[in-house]
Amino acid sequence: MVSGTGSNLAALLAAHDDPGYGARVVAVVADRRGIRALDIAAEAGIPTAVVSVKDFDDRAAWDAAVAETVSVFQPDLIVLAGFMKLFGATFLERFGGRIINTHPALLPAFPGAHGVRDALEYGAKVTGCTVMVVDEGIDTGPILAQAAVAVEPGDDETSLHERIKVVERSLLVEWVGRIARGGLTVDGRHAEVG
Ligand code: GAR
Repeated sequence: MVSGTGSNLAALLAAHDDPGYGARVVAVVADRRGIRALDIAAEAGIPTAVVSVKDFDDRAAWDAAVAETVSVFQPDLIVLAGFMKLFGATFLERFGGRIINTHPALLPAFPGAHGVRDALEYGAKVTGCTVMVVDEGIDTGPILAQAAVAVEPGDDETSLHERIKVVERSLLVEWVGRIARGGLTVDGRHAEVG
């Protein structure tokens, strides 16, 4: 699931043709039209769907429509690869425990939509990225993997985010493959693979 430029999606697509990887992207679902991520999916021949909040009366109706749309593709795992909306009860009841997300900070520090900016403004010297299981909170789910990235003097949000994203892409690709090959178990705050 995507909302933006799709570099994490592109990294997953670069990995999924290898049968040893264990996972294949069956579909890409976005919450908005006209984003680069949808072009990347289309260029790779992957089915796409867009379910936009503004096409629905309220968030609950949107949430139910996203759940319906995703279920058509019968995914084993749902990967939020730069997806910037929160799910509601319907989606989480249907797919809870098999949704993972990637976030550009070392959670629980700097959750939310501006993880890179918030780390910079705080003056953190080390930040990074987190792959986690999605729960009902904002970036609060059990953590699967993290990697650190140093904040360099003179960094701005763009330069730091680009360096984080290099590390983030390989972490996400690695852990999606590990889940596909070994399975994902969640026990309270602890997420285990294989
Ligand atoms: C990634 O850095 C991802 O962690 C972030 O959006 C970027 C998407 O990049 N997601 C969040 O901040 C979620 N809270 P991409 O579209 O190039 O894959």
